[in-house]
Amino acid sequence: MKLIYQQMLAFFAVIITVIVVLGFSFIRTTRTMLYQNSWQQLQQYAASIEKEAIRYNTKTNQVVGFNQQFLNDGTVILRDQHIHFSVYDANKKLVYPSGMGTTMSGTPGGSIYDPKISAKDWKKLKRNKIITQSPHVTFRTRNRDQPVNTPSLRTIDVLVPLFYKNGATKKFVGAISIGSFEQTLQANEQQIEKNLFIALLVSGIAALLLSYILARYSVRRINRLRYATHSVANGDFDIQVDSNHKDEIDDLADDFNGMVNSLRTSNEEIKRQEKRRREFMADAAHEMRTPLTTINGILEGLAYDAIPEEDKGHSIELMQNETKRLIRLVNENLDYEKIRTGQIALNKTNFDGAEVLHNLVEQLTKKAAAADDEFKLTVPEKLPVWADYDRFVQVLFNIMQNAIQFSQANVIEVTGSRTDHATVVAIQDHGIGMTPDQVKNIWERYYKADPSRKNTKYGESGLGLAISHQLVQQHGGSIKVDSVENEGTCFTVTFPDEGFDKPIIDD
Ligand SMILES: Nc1ncnc2c1ncn2[C@@H]1O[C@H](COP(=O)(O)OP(=O)(O)OP(=O)(O)O)[C@@H](O)[C@H]1O
Ligand SMILES: [Mg+2]
Repeated sequence: MKLIYQQMLAFFAVIITVIVVLGFSFIRTTRTMLYQNSWQQLQQYAASIEKEAIRYNTKTNQVVGFNQQFLNDGTVILRDQHIHFSVYDANKKLVYPSGMGTTMSGTPGGSIYDPKISAKDWKKLKRNKIITQSPHVTFRTRNRDQPVNTPSLRTIDVLVPLFYKNGATKKFVGAISIGSFEQTLQANEQQIEKNLFIALLVSGIAALLLSYILARYSVRRINRLRYATHSVANGDFDIQVDSNHKDEIDDLADDFNGMVNSLRTSNEEIKRQEKRRREFMADAAHEMRTPLTTINGILEGLAYDAIPEEDKGHSIELMQNETKRLIRLVNENLDYEKIRTGQIALNKTNFDGAEVLHNLVEQLTKKAAAADDEFKLTVPEKLPVWADYDRFVQVLFNIMQNAIQFSQANVIEVTGSRTDHATVVAIQDHGIGMTPDQVKNIWERYYKADPSRKNTKYGESGLGLAISHQLVQQHGGSIKVDSVENEGTCFTVTFPDEGFDKPIIDD
């Protein structure tokens, strides 16, 4: 079953159950109230009749007669209201209407209202108790022996005792039975039930509408998430679902948005990696092909004796250089793989980094001068370092060489310092710099931010930083890059004193 129908059914069932339960209890209460009211009203009539219509003989304390006129008028008035009454003497003998010869017009066959009073009830009446009676047969044929069992003549009654009171004297002198047609009550009841039924019908339709609106609202929100999920499945990672942060569906929408964001990030990363992989394959092939083509060309020249004798020496030297370049390429690749997979053992020692930096600057000064660059070294007298000496040199050499390579006629600032638990070397140049996108890729093998610079006089392969990065990571340290295009780059390398408490340099 569709969710909307399930929800509608649930809402509808709850609302209808409430309405039906309320309806039934309302009908019950109303019926009870109707009976109570009728009995109360009948009692009031009985009280009036007792007051106005019965005459007593104050000497004998007996009922001596009735105000015939009042009774007849009362009978007519009450009959219009479908109410009948009878009066009995102290011996349970019917004294009105039959005793007075009054005919009961308006009743079938001139039957009379004469409810049978049980002995038990009579006793109660004598004890001055008022008795209320549920619907029952009360009409009899005129000679009082045959009950008239017609549904329309069933009445509810009240039996009221008559007492003669004179000072302290209080004497039971008879009873009045007064009844109202059950039909009248039923008509009222039916009217109420009819109204209630209409109210139920209207509420039912309203409940149906309301449950539809509520169900539609929830289902629409779920469907929105469904469509968004479809879009993501079809590769749209930019989709977002609105959320008001109010309920569980909003929470689900928030989680969904979070998931889509993660998916987008990993999808971009996968694409980037895939692009890098393709570039890596192409670059590796390209890097190898250039020296191999050169070597092949020279070898062919030699084979066909196409190279003049005086150039042969130079050709062989060229071949040697290209072969060295190939060997370097292969070695660096192998080195990278070994470092990456943790196959190299770092031989960490405690040495003076200040001395290393001085040596490196000295070594590279000539190269820097060729690019009109100049080193500015700021380093304390002693700079304790806890690292593999050769790898430390390799990392800094590579970064300093890059600084020369990518800046022209500028100062390259090399700063060595200590923090609490690490040695930090920063190399700041004022060269070509990099865009944020380029910075993202510089740790990848063969990556060159500016491909047009491939195979310059340095014969760079794009492996330097990839190796340096892996090496620093193996040391438990970090390399941070801050670069602004056309302004310069700063590499900050941190070597922590991991596993070494106090790096001390002996004098
Ligand atoms: N200081 C710098 N300023 C600007 N770009 C830089 C700098 N250092 C590195 N790069 C960019 O990062 C790329 C990768 O550097 P990396 O040292 O790994 O390779 P390479 O210098 O090109 O070759 P190799 O070091 O293997 O000879 C460079 O090609 C360059 O585009
Ligand atoms: Mg380099």
